Amino acid sequence: MCGIVGYIGREEAVGIIVEGLRKLEYRGYDSAGVSIIKDGKTDIRRAVGKLANLDKALRDKPIFGNTGIGHTRWATHGRPSEQNAHPHEVDGVSIVHNGILENYMELKHRLQAQGRKFKSETDTEIMSHLVASHIAEGRNLIEAVRASLKEIRGAFAFLIQHEKEPNKIVTAKTASPMVVGVGKGEMFVASDIPALLGHTRDFIILEDGQMAVLTADGVELSDFDGNALPVKTKHVDWSPVMAEKAGHKHFMHKEIHEQPTAIADTIRGRVLMEDASVHLDGVNLGDVKKLRRLIITACGTSFHAGMVGKFMIEKLARLGVDCDLASEFRYRDPVLDEETGVLAISQSGETADTLAAIKLAKSQGATVFAVCNVLESSIARECATSGGVMYTHAGPEIGVASTKAFTTQLVALYLLAIYLGRARGVLDKGAAQKCLEDLREIPSKIERVLATEASIIAIARRYAQARDFLFLGRGPNFPIALEGALKLKEISYIHAEGYSAGEMKHGPIALIDDKMPVVGIATEGPVYDKTVANLEEVRARNGKLIILATEGDSKIAAIADDVIVVPRTDPLLDPIITTIPLQLLAYHIADINGTDVDQPRNLAKSVTVE
Ligand code: F6R
Repeated sequence: MCGIVGYIGREEAVGIIVEGLRKLEYRGYDSAGVSIIKDGKTDIRRAVGKLANLDKALRDKPIFGNTGIGHTRWATHGRPSEQNAHPHEVDGVSIVHNGILENYMELKHRLQAQGRKFKSETDTEIMSHLVASHIAEGRNLIEAVRASLKEIRGAFAFLIQHEKEPNKIVTAKTASPMVVGVGKGEMFVASDIPALLGHTRDFIILEDGQMAVLTADGVELSDFDGNALPVKTKHVDWSPVMAEKAGHKHFMHKEIHEQPTAIADTIRGRVLMEDASVHLDGVNLGDVKKLRRLIITACGTSFHAGMVGKFMIEKLARLGVDCDLASEFRYRDPVLDEETGVLAISQSGETADTLAAIKLAKSQGATVFAVCNVLESSIARECATSGGVMYTHAGPEIGVASTKAFTTQLVALYLLAIYLGRARGVLDKGAAQKCLEDLREIPSKIERVLATEASIIAIARRYAQARDFLFLGRGPNFPIALEGALKLKEISYIHAEGYSAGEMKHGPIALIDDKMPVVGIATEGPVYDKTVANLEEVRARNGKLIILATEGDSKIAAIADDVIVVPRTDPLLDPIITTIPLQLLAYHIADINGTDVDQPRNLAKSVTVE
């Protein structure tokens, strides 16, 4: 989720680039840099931290020129540092990159064997070396980029320039965004439209597998093999505020829709299908056969992810898991030892209660590791000296209500469960392969749920004025009932409770009357019949039933007032799918009621107080 901007024309490039990067800072900012070509020479300035630090570096030592590329970084490979900041320059070739190169280790070894020296810990520098090495073989910049693209695997959007060909910028992309802004006698390029709206409203949106060569006077578009493609320009009339949200009304809505991509990013580079193995770079749990117990600790939505993780890890790795609210953990006297693993889950990496729980567990000899979204956050740093960190790679989450961070946590936990299952000899190759195949289908299944948004809006309209809601689920969907209720109450201020469907008869059933909407998760799985029986009890007391059901379920309509259909998947992965309609329902009810969806009252994105 880095921000990228490039310029070629007759103006000074650096001001235009830095101004564009400022509009993209919401994509992440742990470091930033620019590379400018003037008189056949490259000049680079980079700085750690926010863009203000790059501004200062540029004020102290200005650079000039009409061609340049810039980057604001959200680190994936390599900690935030000046050396790891982009652009990465090798022999006059400068590159900025958004994405993750999957085969970077093997390429790095090959290039090192050829005598090439690396200055950073990034995967991006590989591409700079590849392009430079092909230029050294006698190719021009465009040919060198094409040859390099054939060698890399993964997600990427690059800007590439070479000081010996200063009249062009080359861009290529797959799975990460890139747009070209069309000017008169100048061309712009960026990872996102908002960066360029001050200069143009005409854009060429690059598709996966496309490469563009920009000069001051035009753009040539081709596929990676060099076959020319027609250039289609799109006129965009968004306001700058709309543009930052990519046309969505709220960041939360944008982030709900980003989930297929975010989940693909969490999986990317961690799975080897051939031997059904999962690679948890950055995590070291020692001999996992010796682990006797795992404690998952977290707060709020991340705690709900942990509750689903318990189902996954117990089933796939046969390791006993306890879930502990981080805000309670320290106030007991938890039993911890070297055979207990402790897993902290946190989007922000800054939650004070979770941090305190980690410190306590470490002090008692437990191996503590984290699932976290923010590189170099306090929790990530604390765990780096114990069991390490598994990053979710969801990109910055701006809406206070967690959405894509939650589903990527679920995916990380599923990968962890497979990893533990394989390492502990519980899961054989065939079973693990089946799990991984099911997982790979999740992004497209989420796309299908998102496509039903109109019907969820209709349901939201019918129930937006209700004063209370009940959410019911069983098995791995019980935590999703809790999460559905949390999403609704935090952004719409409507009272909502999540309950295990089986617990209804032990008290909450007294609340049911014809004014109480009850959202029941009754997807296929081992607890389907039991859940339906619980929902029948609601029906018998005139409760209004909104039921999430698996496609093809012909029975459910008979008891439901409204049905939300979701695609079929393995029961352990089902919570990733069933979460999506509940996020949309909460979002649309809040939007209809006109609350401040992205910044609900009394809440903060990082809870740094205990
Ligand atoms: C709810 C939400 C919160 C957080 C909780 C923990 O939508 O976002 O409940 O999940 O404050 O935050 P992290 O995951 O940053 O530790």
